[in-house]
Amino acid sequence: VFVTRRIPAEGLRVLSQAGGCRVQQWDSEEPVPRAELLAGVAGKRGLLCLLSDRIDREVLEAAGPGLKVISTMSVGFDHLALEEIKKRGIRVGYTPDVLTDATAELSVALLLAACRRLPEAVEQVKSGGWTTWKPLWMCGYGLSDSTVGIIGLGRIGQAVARRLKPFGVKKFLYTSSRPKPACAAEFEAEFVPLTRLAEESDFIVVTCALTPATQGMCNKDFFSRMKKTSVFVNTSRGTVVNQEDLYDALAHGQIAAAGLDVTTPEPLPTDHPLLSLKNCVILPHVGSATYATRSTMAVLAANNLLAGLRGEPMPHELLL
Ligand code: DGY
Repeated sequence: VFVTRRIPAEGLRVLSQAGGCRVQQWDSEEPVPRAELLAGVAGKRGLLCLLSDRIDREVLEAAGPGLKVISTMSVGFDHLALEEIKKRGIRVGYTPDVLTDATAELSVALLLAACRRLPEAVEQVKSGGWTTWKPLWMCGYGLSDSTVGIIGLGRIGQAVARRLKPFGVKKFLYTSSRPKPACAAEFEAEFVPLTRLAEESDFIVVTCALTPATQGMCNKDFFSRMKKTSVFVNTSRGTVVNQEDLYDALAHGQIAAAGLDVTTPEPLPTDHPLLSLKNCVILPHVGSATYATRSTMAVLAANNLLAGLRGEPMPHELLL
């Protein structure tokens, strides 16, 4: 099998302790260069990859007909060319559930950082901008009595709502590919069209998967419907958002603030216009980044890979 990066040791141990599994690894913190990926995967039966590896037709062809399983150490699978993979009868494993809590927690942290202007406030303390207690200084927006809109009421969306409810949220709205009354009941969340969610929410949290239907969904029209006092948070994938439109909305005060854990591209160039805005908090895709979660993800990815190689049911298989 080929492992495209240095992963938590617990995951690698599962592979190396499995009888009959020979591991070749790109043992680095940095992404595998394309040429090394193409060479590394050649002749392998299994591939353990990350969300930053684009697994397309070229990779599948480089691997050859022996490739039986792709296991991604991520819940997202938009980096995998699923049609091509399906055509070749390759099985796919992924890592849902185990990162739900960590990602929901980070979504809440990012929301609070953006709405209460935490990075800006920290900067003021460091730069000497904190001269005295001022009634109108560093004010933001709170969750109490607010309406929260969740885009994508899946595992992570529900976990975000569950964490936000005790802050005194008055109403939850959601959009999803279809209404989910059983999931929504816990929060008495109302299924609404995207336009209504944009218009009525004080906070919007994007937690949906990236699909052709969600790509570029948060665009000029969407931001123009939001209230000037509303806060936008994205912890799903950068391309769900049209970043130029988001920049305009933030720069012209059309919305109050944004918190992004995901961008296009990743990493975001340090001279990107979004980074010049005080009302935009940007994190480097760290939603699932707790030691325990990353270790569990690595173990699950390894077990998915082994099960696929043995022709057994995977702990988490993506059904194509
Ligand atoms: C995923 O797994 O897809 C998240 O974006 C990172 O953990």
